[in-house]
Amino acid sequence: MIKFFDIYKQDKIILRKNLRDFENTIKKSNFINGDPVNNFEKKFSKYCGTKYAVGCNSGTDALFLALKSLNLKENSEVILPAQTYCSTLFAVLRANLKPVLIDIQSNNPTICTKDLKRKINKKTSAVVVVHLYGQVCNIKEIKKIITKKNIYLIEDAAQAHGARDNSYNNFGKRAGSLGDIGCFSFYPGKNLGAYGDAGAITTNSKRLYTKIKKLRNLGGIKKYEHDFVGYNSRLDTIQASILLNKLVYLDKNNQKRKIIAKIYNDNIINPEIIKLKYTRGCVYHQYVVLSKKEKKIIKLFNKNKIQFGKHYPDPIHKLKGTKKLFKNKFFKNAESFSKYGISLPIDPNSKKKDIIKICKLLNSI
Ligand SMILES: Cc1ncc(COP(=O)(O)O)c(C=O)c1O
Repeated sequence: MIKFFDIYKQDKIILRKNLRDFENTIKKSNFINGDPVNNFEKKFSKYCGTKYAVGCNSGTDALFLALKSLNLKENSEVILPAQTYCSTLFAVLRANLKPVLIDIQSNNPTICTKDLKRKINKKTSAVVVVHLYGQVCNIKEIKKIITKKNIYLIEDAAQAHGARDNSYNNFGKRAGSLGDIGCFSFYPGKNLGAYGDAGAITTNSKRLYTKIKKLRNLGGIKKYEHDFVGYNSRLDTIQASILLNKLVYLDKNNQKRKIIAKIYNDNIINPEIIKLKYTRGCVYHQYVVLSKKEKKIIKLFNKNKIQFGKHYPDPIHKLKGTKKLFKNKFFKNAESFSKYGISLPIDPNSKKKDIIKICKLLNSI
């Protein structure tokens, strides 16, 4: 069996430390707002290159709290890509805002800036860009389009811990520090994953930081302080201590992902398989290829016990529960990614021979 991603193997090196920290939390019984939460927020903001970070209970909530903190008028328009995880859309809807979809690029999983230019209007209040698969969007171009228009830029960096923006230079700033607010998920399978649900929000704005800190803690920073209606969306002490231990290894694991991606890039040579264009700063949360022979590939993978993924089987405008909002909408590239995309195993500790085997199988199609 070639596994898609082996969390146990990746984290074995810190297993004892995690268990010790778990025991410590139980001993201290500081399950909520314990020291590790504050420590993690400090270290994570430093890592991302922002002044502030606020832990919360998921990437979905990070997006929702980010949008809520902006105090936007009900039904103001928020632009987001038609290919992303459902949470990006659901956060917009839950904040009573109006989603406006735009397409992604044909050979890169991030938003098409030409479509962004077309869809921006006076009602646009925010753009949520998604650094899908660990590939940072073309921030330079996006900022050029929205500048002086009073439009907030929110990064959905749920798949991009440590990814860098290459639109200005080759060694750019990290995801989460590129817009007004960055939103992260620490879902277990992410490049930086907790052992349950967890998320974080990054920002350089003290005003937004304070608002988000209150929003995630029932409207106040201190106990029994409720300045407005807030939510219970805190990051647990136990998850924070695990994230602190794992943050130390994030760059190393991202580097291993890049090495695996390079093996795929160099060895998949088949006109039936389209490799995507990723930049140097990509952290390969997923390594996705497109192929019209995708059914044949799936059969071959199943026969050879190779795990794979689909990210995502339906574009945003075709999700069962919300498709009525996007009647008659068509996004060519998002649909093509859904239909023809296959996510190849991207376990940082994969054996080179296994990756080469996958390449050979793909070349045989
Ligand atoms: C692009 C994107 N946005 C948002 C989320 C939501 O994060 P969570 O699962 O932590 O709520 C995810 C996680 O799967 C994601 O991949």
